[in-house]
Amino acid sequence: MYGLIASAALIATASAVTTNYTSTVDPTKISIPSTPQTTSYDVTTECTYYQPPVPINLGDWPTNWKVATTNNMNQTAEFQALYNSIDWTKAPNVQPHTMGADGALSTTGYDVTNDPDCWWTASGCVTPKFPGVLKDISACAEPETWGLTYDDGPNCSHNAFYDFLQQQNLKASMFYIGSNVMNWPYGAQRGVKDGHHIAVHTWSHPMMTTLTNQDVLAELYYATKMIKYVTGLTPLYWRPPLGDVDDRVRWIASQLNLTAIIWNLDTDDWAAGVTVTVQQVQQNYQDFITMGTNGTFTNSGNIVLSHEINNMTMGFAETYIPQIKKAYKNILDVATCMNITHPYVESSVSFPAFSSSNGVSPGASGSSSSGGSSSSSGSAPSSTRSNAALVVAAVFACIAFF
Ligand SMILES: *[C@@H]1O[C@H](CO)[C@@H](O)[C@H](O)[C@H]1NC(C)=O
Ligand SMILES: *[C@@H]1O[C@H](CO)[C@@H](O)[C@H](O)[C@H]1NC(C)=O
Ligand SMILES: *[C@@H]1O[C@H](CO)[C@@H](O)[C@H](O)[C@H]1NC(C)=O
Ligand SMILES: *[C@@H]1O[C@H](CO)[C@@H](O)[C@H](O)[C@H]1NC(C)=O
Ligand SMILES: *[C@@H]1O[C@H](CO)[C@@H](O)[C@H](O)[C@H]1NC(C)=O
Ligand SMILES: *[C@@H]1O[C@H](CO)[C@@H](O)[C@H](O)[C@H]1NC(C)=O
Ligand SMILES: *[C@@H]1O[C@H](CO)[C@@H](O)[C@H](O)[C@H]1NC(C)=O
Ligand SMILES: [Zn+2]
Repeated sequence: MYGLIASAALIATASAVTTNYTSTVDPTKISIPSTPQTTSYDVTTECTYYQPPVPINLGDWPTNWKVATTNNMNQTAEFQALYNSIDWTKAPNVQPHTMGADGALSTTGYDVTNDPDCWWTASGCVTPKFPGVLKDISACAEPETWGLTYDDGPNCSHNAFYDFLQQQNLKASMFYIGSNVMNWPYGAQRGVKDGHHIAVHTWSHPMMTTLTNQDVLAELYYATKMIKYVTGLTPLYWRPPLGDVDDRVRWIASQLNLTAIIWNLDTDDWAAGVTVTVQQVQQNYQDFITMGTNGTFTNSGNIVLSHEINNMTMGFAETYIPQIKKAYKNILDVATCMNITHPYVESSVSFPAFSSSNGVSPGASGSSSSGGSSSSSGSAPSSTRSNAALVVAAVFACIAFF
C-alpha cells in the first residue's frame, strides 16, 4: 500500500490539514482494571455505565449517536481550522444522495451504468474515478485467506467474544463507532490491548453519501479523535457504514489520511431475525466456509463483513470460527493480510507483514498481548487481486438498526 505512488501523492496533499488528536494513554501500556463490567459475561452487568479511565467532558464532543456536527462542534475554533485547512475547490463536485420514500438510498437521477462517482452502494465500485483519492481495500490479496472483520463495536457485552478470540489466537480488524468508544472506553482499550487492528466506523453510523461535506468531515474527524483520546492510537483506516461511500466521501476521508476497507463477502449477521432469517445467515457462513476449499479462493482471499453488535452476531463467530480455521489457510486482520505494518499514525504499535504472520496474525507488537501461531503457514503469495465476481451486489435496504 505504501509503495503506491498515488498514496504518496495523496499524503502530501493531506499534510495541510490541522488536527487536534491528543491522548494521555500509552497504547503499549494499557492496563484494564478487573471490574464486573470488564470481566462478566452477563449483558446487564457488562453494560452498566462506569467512570471512564480518561475524563470525558461532554462539551468537547459531538452529541452521542447524533451527527458529529451536533453540540455546536462545527462552530468550534478547532473544527473551523480543520475545515478551512482543506482546499474544498479541489473536492469532487458531487451532490449528497437522498433517501427515498421507502427509507432506502435513492439512485434516482444517478447514472448507475457509468457510475461516475464510484458509488459503492449503486455499483460495488472500489476503484475511485476521481484523481488523488485513496483506493478502497476490498479483499485480502493472499490466496485462501479469510479477512476477519467486526463492525459496530466496541459493544459493552463483548467480554466472552474477545476472550474467545484470544483463546483462538486470532486478531481481527475492529471498526469502532466513535459514540460507542465514548460510552465504553474500556471496551476500546481491550481491543488495542488484545492486539486487534482498530479502525474508524464514524461517529454516529450515518449513510455517509447523504451528508454534507462538513458533516462527513466531522463524522470522521471526531470518531478518529475519540479513538485516539481513549486508546492513544490514530487509525489510518475506516469503513463506511453499510458500505455507503463515493468519491466525494473518499476525497474527504483522504484529507484525514483515511483509507476505506470494504468487504467482498457479507454474512448479513446483523440482520438475522430482523430482515433475514437466522437460517439464511447460517447458510451464508456455510457457503463462505465451502468457498475456502472449493477453489473460489485459489488465487486471492476475502474480507468478510461481520459484527460485534450483539450476542447473536458474536455467537455466530464462536460457532463458525473453528470450521473457518479448517477451511482456510489463514485467518487474519486486514492490516496483516495486506502487509500494512503501520495502520496507525503512531509508530509505537506495528503489525507483522503477511510473510511473517504464519497463518494466524500475532497481532500488534507493542500491545501487551501477542501470541504465536498454531495454524499452517502462509503459502506463496499471488499477484491476483480481488475476485470482482464476488463483490457483493448492491444493497439498497436501509434498516435503522440503531
Ligand atoms: C496525513 O499524513 C501526513 C504525512 O504522514 C501528515 O503530515 C499529516 O499531518 C496527516 N494528516 C492528518 C490529518 O492526520
Ligand atoms: C453546523 O452544522 C449544522 C448541522 O449540520 C448546520 O445547520 C449549521 O449551519 C452548521 N454551522 C456552521 C457554522 O457551519
Ligand atoms: C483540542 O481538544 C480538546 C478536547 O479534546 C479541547 O479541550 C482543546 O481546546 C482543543 N484544542 C484546540 C487547539 O482546539
Ligand atoms: C464454491 O462454493 C460456493 C458456496 O457454496 C458456490 O457458490 C460456488 O459456486 C462454489 N464454487 C466452485 C468453483 O465450485
Ligand atoms: C450490545 O450488545 C447487546 C447484546 O449483547 C445489545 O443489546 C446492545 O444493543 C448492543 N449495543 C450496541 C450499542 O450496539
Ligand atoms: C451470550 O450471552 C450469554 C449469557 O446470556 C453468555 O453466556 C455467552 O457467552 C454470550 N455469547 C457471546 C458470544 O457473547
Ligand atoms: C505482502 O508481502 C508479500 C511478501 O513480501 C508479497 O508477496 C505480497 O504481494 C504482499 N501483499 C500485498 C497486498 O502487498
Ligand atoms: Zn456498521
